[in-house]
Amino acid sequence: MKVTIKTSEEIELMRKAGKILAEVHQCLGKEIKPGMSTLDIDRLGEEMIRSYGCIPSFKNYCGYPASICVSVNEEVVHGIPKKSRIIQEGDIVSLDAGVIYEGYHSDAARTVAVGEVSKEAELLIERTRQSFFEGMKMATAGNHLYDISSAVGDYAAQFGYGVVEDLCGHGIGSHLHEEPEIPNYRPSRFRHGIKLKPGMTLAVEPMINIGTADVLWMDDEWTVVTEDNSLSAHYENTILITEGKPEILSLTEDEKAAGYLELF
Ligand code: MF3
Ligand code: CO
Repeated sequence: MKVTIKTSEEIELMRKAGKILAEVHQCLGKEIKPGMSTLDIDRLGEEMIRSYGCIPSFKNYCGYPASICVSVNEEVVHGIPKKSRIIQEGDIVSLDAGVIYEGYHSDAARTVAVGEVSKEAELLIERTRQSFFEGMKMATAGNHLYDISSAVGDYAAQFGYGVVEDLCGHGIGSHLHEEPEIPNYRPSRFRHGIKLKPGMTLAVEPMINIGTADVLWMDDEWTVVTEDNSLSAHYENTILITEGKPEILSLTEDEKAAGYLELF
């Protein structure tokens, strides 16, 4: 499949999907409390998604058994919600969710701090988020895809963080995963990636570890963890490439009010 340019009708549907997903993240993030299980979070998230008449896109995707990927502390992504995994004060919890609205997808992730977390955890969350926005500074028509990748990766690496290379962002639209694959690091200097064009829709999703970039897959075949057990954070949005600044389709109202549109 080639990288697709969405029509204005498709873009309108993706805007709606993004807005709904942003609302889900905004509400779900505020619900995370010590004592909840990761399965409680999944149930709540799925209920919210369905309340908008949307389908949770992750459910049964390649056999993934839940609607929300809930990844705690050293878990990087694709944590499987469980009744036995209880959230504690001081945890950082990555919530990754996808919705389908009238056939079109939106995909977004946030890492939330539960109560008081360590200074290093707080910085990791903030800098992972900012690495996404550094990528957004380059996400404009005429630039190349790996301009985004390089900006994301270089920003995070300057803090000594491990930038996960085994998982990537992706194109998105009528499918959750479309071309192109979007690395979060600077590839070889001979490769630039495709030229960005207005109407491309992408899911950019840095996964950043305090320690090593190396990750492992657990026996459940989904949960990705850091090899050295260091903390990991994830920040993802579905974006639309334009002639100017990218449109971030899954930004929450709280984030807009907090001035995130000025971060890129
Ligand atoms: N944002 C994640 C990704 O793009 C979503 C995982 S989907 C799952 O890979 F269904 F496989 F969990
Ligand atoms: Co994604």
